[in-house]
Amino acid sequence: MSKDKVQIFDTTLRDGEQVPGCKLDTEQKLIIAERLDALGVDVIEAGFPISSPGDFKSVSEISRLVKNATVCGLTRAVKKDIEVAAEAIKDAKKPRIHTGIGTSESHIKYKFNSTQDEVLRRAVEAVKYAKTFVEDVEFYAEDAGRTENEFLARICEAVIQAGATVLNIPDTTGYCLPEEYGAKMKYLRENVRDIDKAILSCHCHNDLGLATANSIAGVINGARQIECTINGIGERAGNTSLEEVVMILRQHPHLNLDTGINSKLLYDTSQMVSRKMGMPVQPNKAIVGSNAFAHSSGIHQDGVIKKRETYEIIDPVDVGVTESSIVLTARSGRAALAYRAKKVGYELTKLQLDKVYDQFLVFADRKKEIEDADIHSIVEASGVNI
Ligand code: KIV
Ligand code: ZN
Repeated sequence: MSKDKVQIFDTTLRDGEQVPGCKLDTEQKLIIAERLDALGVDVIEAGFPISSPGDFKSVSEISRLVKNATVCGLTRAVKKDIEVAAEAIKDAKKPRIHTGIGTSESHIKYKFNSTQDEVLRRAVEAVKYAKTFVEDVEFYAEDAGRTENEFLARICEAVIQAGATVLNIPDTTGYCLPEEYGAKMKYLRENVRDIDKAILSCHCHNDLGLATANSIAGVINGARQIECTINGIGERAGNTSLEEVVMILRQHPHLNLDTGINSKLLYDTSQMVSRKMGMPVQPNKAIVGSNAFAHSSGIHQDGVIKKRETYEIIDPVDVGVTESSIVLTARSGRAALAYRAKKVGYELTKLQLDKVYDQFLVFADRKKEIEDADIHSIVEASGVNI
């Protein structure tokens, strides 16, 4: 049975770039955009063109550069924003305007001092105006996660009638539980007239560490686009991590969903974005962290050496990591030592291994991690004749 496509909307260069302390210049953004295109993302949100002349320039140049992906510019539901975004993306092969407005009670009451009816009117007006420039218009209902479903459905229905092609349902504050976010998508699928004319999109923030889980709940309940960033970077605790959702869908074929991303480029892309943004990847980060395929306790090492799948659900090669690593520490056993010793040229007999292992423990208690170079000293100090 053929799988349903889940589009990957990458917002590393817009929501991701909003991370405190990070600033990318146009040249760096172009390099990242080119890599995202090679990775196979469906949409690159290149920036918020009205926000600064620099961002406008970056969005324009990315629009000219990108060969395959749709290039998208963010706007508020404001005419001037839409005009500037339309100008910035005008040379893109596939241009998209991403416009929207806050729909939750706190946005309507405190941010806009307005009413639901007025917000709905502005949303429709913005989508209609954006449609005068491009065919592909995505509408976001900011803080949809805390917006009551009935009003959300009303506004979604109205913007579909106005021509929206994608409906973004952001959990802007990262508040929702996965069941709640999934139920919201289901509610919209069941209660919005002509819902099939638009694609529902998940845009989840990670304030409670649930961005990935919520996005997956969203697609299980009918959404067909996930908005995400490389390494999950973004405002506050970040956005949904691209590499996580891609690999979750890949590792669970029974969901019948696929993204079409070239997963072999994930690790390199993660490293590249981390370097350019000056944002280190935490070692225990799923999929792309330096420890994601590293085994350090004796029991796990023994299992992985006998059969990799015992402790690994992903083949590291599939995400561009050459091989799993067996880290030698004082918690490692003989199997790990023999494995690493063999890699640097020592085929140890059982008796030799016993001797070298005793010496290894002396070294390992002094040094946190034993490197290849240390193995030579350990073998020499053990007195075995090789
Ligand atoms: O988190 C959010 O609501 C957003 C919108 C502007 C799409 O980033
Ligand atoms: Zn966001």
